[in-house]
Amino acid sequence: MELLKQSFELLEKRELAPKVNLYKVRAPQVARARKAGQFVIIRVCEGSERIPLTIADADPVAGTVTLVVQEVGSTTARMAQVKVGERFADLLGPLGAPTHVAKIGTVVCVGGGIGIAPVHPIAQALKAAGNRVIGVLAARNTGLLFFRDEMRKACDEVRVWTDDGSEGKKGLATDAIKEIQAEVGQIAEVVAIGPVPMMKFVSKLTKELGIKTQVSLNPVMVDGTGMCGGCRVSVDGKSKFVCVDGPEFDGHQVDFDELSRRQAIYKEDERRAMERLVKEVR
Ligand SMILES: Cc1cc2nc3c(=O)[nH]c(=O)nc-3n(C[C@H](O)[C@H](O)[C@H](O)COP(=O)(O)OP(=O)(O)OC[C@H]3O[C@@H](n4cnc5c(N)ncnc54)[C@H](O)[C@@H]3O)c2cc1C
Ligand code: FES
Repeated sequence: MELLKQSFELLEKRELAPKVNLYKVRAPQVARARKAGQFVIIRVCEGSERIPLTIADADPVAGTVTLVVQEVGSTTARMAQVKVGERFADLLGPLGAPTHVAKIGTVVCVGGGIGIAPVHPIAQALKAAGNRVIGVLAARNTGLLFFRDEMRKACDEVRVWTDDGSEGKKGLATDAIKEIQAEVGQIAEVVAIGPVPMMKFVSKLTKELGIKTQVSLNPVMVDGTGMCGGCRVSVDGKSKFVCVDGPEFDGHQVDFDELSRRQAIYKEDERRAMERLVKEVR
């Protein structure tokens, strides 16, 4: 019984940016098995919904996984209330296909906003495979940036871009790619993770530039096992399930407009869930 009490214990919690928290959770089996690009499905407490979160880092010796979570609705708000020493109801994983890692040359890993967390383990793995990894951290403003030191360790070089110019260069993730392309010449691959519009416009640009691009998709997910069809996305005109076929796909073949529409399906239910949570904590 002691083992059960200790599992999925929250060992460390830190605010990285407004409404963005880092959670270090005890989960030895997941920490040992996980590979770059994979995610877990977590249930914060008994009866709460299950949400997918990328494994931002893991320590197989200490038996911990690190999650970086943006508070956007009721479940992530509930998660933010969990205190160090308490434990999550369950944490299932590692799920999803790992990132394909090979030595291919210069790779640009772009993290937009909360996407900085999931791009981190991919940058680590690509560098370990012998690639030259240029990291791009992009956010609306300096207050929303995090993982600067972690990304500097994971990459050969890191460039920072903000929409308002409050840190690094002023401009968007697409401007960063244009700059690197002009300097480096040959980029073997771009890995872009962030909000859907960011991934859409990065993919549009890299298609024009002829640079292979991987994106990590974040649709509505339900069972995470490929059985329910909830995470369906269209890639190259074919239906794929993000939880088993992804989460990474060729950005040039993803139907981003359909993905945006499907993400908004439960907007009304999400609003009601948030209202219920606010009433509960009053
Ligand atoms: C494979 C995968 C990995 C993910 N990894 C991370 C991660 O590492 N860190 C993290 O913070 N989030 C991650 N997400 C997104 C996370 O699962 C959602 O933010 C979470 O489920 C929202 O739950 P909620 O009940 O708090 O908000 P909800 O009430 O469900 O949503 C509130 C509002 O947030 C927005 N929203 C909800 N889900 C998403 C989404 N998937 N993408 C963009 N906007 C959304 C919508 O506008 C919605 O109205 C990942 C999603 C997937 C599918
Ligand atoms: S979440 Fe059910 S099929 Fe992917």
